[in-house]
Amino acid sequence: MRLPRWLLPLALAATASASHVVPFRIHKQRTSGLPLRRRGVPFDEDLANNLTSGAYFAQVELGTPGQTLSLHVDTGSTDVWVLSPQTNLCRSSALQSVHGNCVSTFDSSASSTFREVEDADFEIRYLDGSGAEGIYFTDNVNVGGLNVTGVQMGLARKSTSSWGMLGVGYAKNSAARKPYPSIMDNMFDQGLINIKAYSLYLNDLEASTGTILFGGIDTEKFYGELKTVKTLPNDNVGHVTHFNVSLTSLTTVSATTEPEEFLISPVPVILDSGTTLTYLPRTVTGPLFDKINAYDRSSATIPIVFVDCALRTSDPSLVFAYRFGSDDGPVVKVSISDIVFDDVKAYVSAGIITLPSNLPFPRDRVCSFGILTSQGGEVHLLGDTFLRSAYVVYDLTNDQISLAQSNMNSTKENIIEIPKGATAIPSVTGQAVPISTLESQHPNSGTRSRPSFPTALLTCLGVSVFVATVQ
Ligand SMILES: *[C@@H]1O[C@H](CO)[C@@H](O)[C@H](O)[C@H]1NC(C)=O
Ligand SMILES: *[C@@H]1O[C@H](CO)[C@@H](O)[C@H](O)[C@H]1NC(C)=O
Ligand SMILES: *[C@@H]1O[C@H](CO)[C@@H](O)[C@H](O)[C@H]1NC(C)=O
Ligand SMILES: *[C@@H]1O[C@H](CO)[C@@H](O)[C@H](O)[C@H]1NC(C)=O
Repeated sequence: MRLPRWLLPLALAATASASHVVPFRIHKQRTSGLPLRRRGVPFDEDLANNLTSGAYFAQVELGTPGQTLSLHVDTGSTDVWVLSPQTNLCRSSALQSVHGNCVSTFDSSASSTFREVEDADFEIRYLDGSGAEGIYFTDNVNVGGLNVTGVQMGLARKSTSSWGMLGVGYAKNSAARKPYPSIMDNMFDQGLINIKAYSLYLNDLEASTGTILFGGIDTEKFYGELKTVKTLPNDNVGHVTHFNVSLTSLTTVSATTEPEEFLISPVPVILDSGTTLTYLPRTVTGPLFDKINAYDRSSATIPIVFVDCALRTSDPSLVFAYRFGSDDGPVVKVSISDIVFDDVKAYVSAGIITLPSNLPFPRDRVCSFGILTSQGGEVHLLGDTFLRSAYVVYDLTNDQISLAQSNMNSTKENIIEIPKGATAIPSVTGQAVPISTLESQHPNSGTRSRPSFPTALLTCLGVSVFVATVQ
């Protein structure tokens, strides 16, 4: 499951068939240099926030000598695969005008450690309909400065995706008919990490980089306590195949209005960095969209939910609080400014998007919303419009997820290693919650309880003191 392929740059969108286009966010060039090199355990890898394509990329070195490739980091799938200069898409400008230019390619003939895997056909399809097919091979991959040897990967002969993937999901969810060790398995088996777990910090929408930290936790990157929930098995096969967790509450909370609950019963949701937006069932989005006066066109050829851009300014303290597991489970709050995007107007002007005549707010104030209604079936996804606000530890060894509120734009680091044989993610505490953002970070405001002291007032006074605990 990856980002909807309709997220194409405007220039491309204008020439593409309408069915594959929808707004991208903002143009922004990647500003950071090479990934931070760290030796030893745990190790991290910078993720480039490619706003142009609405996705997060890791730079890896593939083969001998190493070739640098940008791969899309996907927690929702398992296969690592790459494009080659021979992939049909990379050889055809006609195909590229539909699916986008090939981001980076791997020349297998230039790698002395490349080995083709016999009798193994590579074929993968994502939820958005895109996919790739070709052969499987093994080669060495350098991630974040560490060598992982003999990694099995797909080499696309044909692709409708303009970039390769770094799938970091469950090995059991591989697209291959014959199961093989995933890159997470390889890292663990080769002693590079103590546990098959990584922490994902996508960072602020405006930030150029986030981080994936293999085998460790960075306590500078989140607020409050890291809390753990179990991942849920897939009913079709009887074991865990995805980072599927139980969403038990979704409330809107603000300094000026009463909290409001939008979940009537728990919803299984998949935490998927390969998906740009968030998809929830109609039972949730119906009342939620009514509340914010949104116009739902999730089922259209260009799926989009229109909202009034004024939402960003009319109640800037408004947050969407997601709670997982028990009443005491982790709560992550997504601020209104991180989920309302002023990215539609150019498409309307270009005639790519036609606004409905009964839009419930002025047409010159049209923005898009980061939550859509799930289409066709029971798969609900929390993509980047949720994940940017969260610090998430994905533990494949113990089938669990730990979550905390992200400390966006943090430049410090304090990395702790997850010990060997750990059966639980250490329950560590991150940064103290700043009072100025207390309303949006308050651990209890995911419930209906009122803040215990007047945070709105403190915010007005611009107080920037930090408190150790907030209850
Ligand atoms: C970011 O996206 C643009 C446009 O799709 C592409 O040209 C560029 O190579 C991408 N950068 C990375 C690091 O993937
Ligand atoms: C990775 O392996 C290659 C080839 O075996 C070697 O040249 C390189 O020094 C290794 N890099 C690290 C960081 O160990
Ligand atoms: C997610 O969890 C639900 C509830 O336990 C289960 O019915 C469903 O099969 C799971 N989905 C996947 C894709 O694992
Ligand atoms: C992070 O920094 C960007 C500017 O680089 C800013 O626009 C954004 O509001 C910051 N986010 C937070 C949560 O402070």
